[in-house]
Parts: sequence; structure tokens; C-alpha cells
Amino acid sequence: MQSEGGLGRHPWNRRKTLAPGFGHAGVTGNTKNACDATLKIIRENNGLSCYKKRNSSMTEVSYARRSGETMKSMIKRTPVFPFFRDARILVRWILAGRPVPPPHLVKQRAIRTHARKHHLSIFIETGTYRGDMIEAVRRDFEQVYSIELGADLHRAARERFASDPRVQLLQGDSGEVLRGLLARIDRPALFWLDSHYSDADTARSALITPVRRELEHILAHPLARRHVILVDDARLFNGEDDYPTIGSLNAVLAGAGFAPCRVQDDIIRIHG
Ligand SMILES: C[S@@+](CC[C@H](N)C(=O)[O-])C[C@H]1O[C@@H](n2cnc3c(N)ncnc32)[C@H](O)[C@@H]1O
Repeated sequence: MQSEGGLGRHPWNRRKTLAPGFGHAGVTGNTKNACDATLKIIRENNGLSCYKKRNSSMTEVSYARRSGETMKSMIKRTPVFPFFRDARILVRWILAGRPVPPPHLVKQRAIRTHARKHHLSIFIETGTYRGDMIEAVRRDFEQVYSIELGADLHRAARERFASDPRVQLLQGDSGEVLRGLLARIDRPALFWLDSHYSDADTARSALITPVRRELEHILAHPLARRHVILVDDARLFNGEDDYPTIGSLNAVLAGAGFAPCRVQDDIIRIHG
């Protein structure tokens, strides 16, 4: 039986009492947001289970230690390392005031959150590049399509995902190829529109970005009102370099019977 006042006096329980200034009333808005975001990642991933699945076990770490592996690489192999790495990226970004563009991780989370909320099992990306978004979200969907203009980038991505039957990669201008792909889509999908020229090793069609054509194809699809469309790089939608303004985008949406888009964390969000 617990003695009277026993719980409060136990050293372990005393440690849970927060020092003045460390309670929620004492933290800044940004710090609280960062803490909330970290807790949200844990909740979204059912605790740390998704990290455990993808990583080696503690037994392997003990083995690695015996075989002379460095402490740093041992820590990287622990099951919870990716969780702390992701939390650190997210917390730093929030504490910096959520600057744009956000880290890739924030985009991945937006895709996952919308897919879960709207029960979407098909992912369609324009602009494959190296396939990093595919790698991040492919386990969250039954079918994954991605279109890339650059022949070498397309070939490299095919090699990267050769063993995953969920992933289908198409080569060509997404302003055109997307129309043919949509003809085969008979379930609501999540679109990640991210094809554009951006220096380095990226490809370029006649346009810097084919996003207007892509949106026209999607809005004309029979399931348009049930799709969710996320468009990256909202900050570039200023009417220059083939990007529409957010205002003209909303006019197109209104013409198709859609509500205005919502912009958050540099991502344009459209759904019927
Ligand atoms: C910003 S990167 C995509 C990044 C990728 N979605 C990710 O999140 O990891 C843009 C890609 O679009 C490709 N691209 C440019 N114009 C294109 C077009 N008209 N059709 C298809 N892809 C295009 C570029 O070659 C580049 O690989």
C-alpha cells in the first residue's frame, strides 16, 4: 500500500516537478510549437514504431560495438536515431520561425497527413528528380506514379525503385504525360506537383514549369473534386517564369467550382 504522501516524496517523482519557468507558462510560443510538433510526430507514427521497423535492433548495435565500430555510427544504427534526427530538423525550423522553403521533411509530412485524412491510396508526383519524395512516402500508398522530364534522372530513379512494384515511373513533360496517366486513374489520388527547372542537373521543357497545364488536366478529371492537390514552392507563384499568381490560380479554381486554395509552409493545398 502506498504510504501517505509517498509518491510526492520519492526522488523519481520529485524530478517530475518542473522548476519555475519551465512549465508551459514559461516557454515561448516558438518553443511550445516545437514541443507540440515533436509530440505530433510521435503520435502520427504510433509512438516510434515506424522508426523501429526501418532500423536495426539494439542487438546489432551491441554486436557493432564489439566489432570496433565508432560511437557515432553506432548511434546512427539505433532504432530511434531517425526519430531524433527528424525531430531536430523540425524543431530547428520551427524555432527559426518556419522560414520558406521548409525542409523536405515538412513536405513529406504534409503529403502523409493529407493522404491519411482523405483516405488516399494513390500518389502522383510530377518532377521525380532523384526520387527522394518517392522513397519517403511510397510505403504510405498502394500505387505511386512519378513523371520526370530528364532522361538520366528518370533512368536513375527506375534503378532505385526497380524492386518496388508499387512504383511506376514515367518519362516526359508532365504537362503532357499527366493527361495520359489520368485517363487510367479511377480512384481519388494525392497529387504532388513539383516539376520545374531549377538549375543544377534538372531538366527544362519550353516552360520553366508546366504547372498550369498539370492543373488543367487534374481539374478536368471526372474525380477532380475527390483528389487532393498539393503544389510545392508557393513562394514562386508571383506571375513570373511561367508561374501563375495565387490570385489567377484561385480564379481558375473558382471557374471549375473549387474553393480558393490554402497556402501553408510554402505548399499550395487544393481540394474540392
Ligand atoms: C524540384 S525537383 C523535384 C523534387 C522531387 N519532387 C522531390 O521532392 O524529391 C524538379 C524536377 O522536375 C523536373 N522537371 C522540370 N521540368 C519538367 C517537366 N516539364 N516535366 C517533368 N519534369 C520536369 C526536373 O528535371 C527536376 O528533376
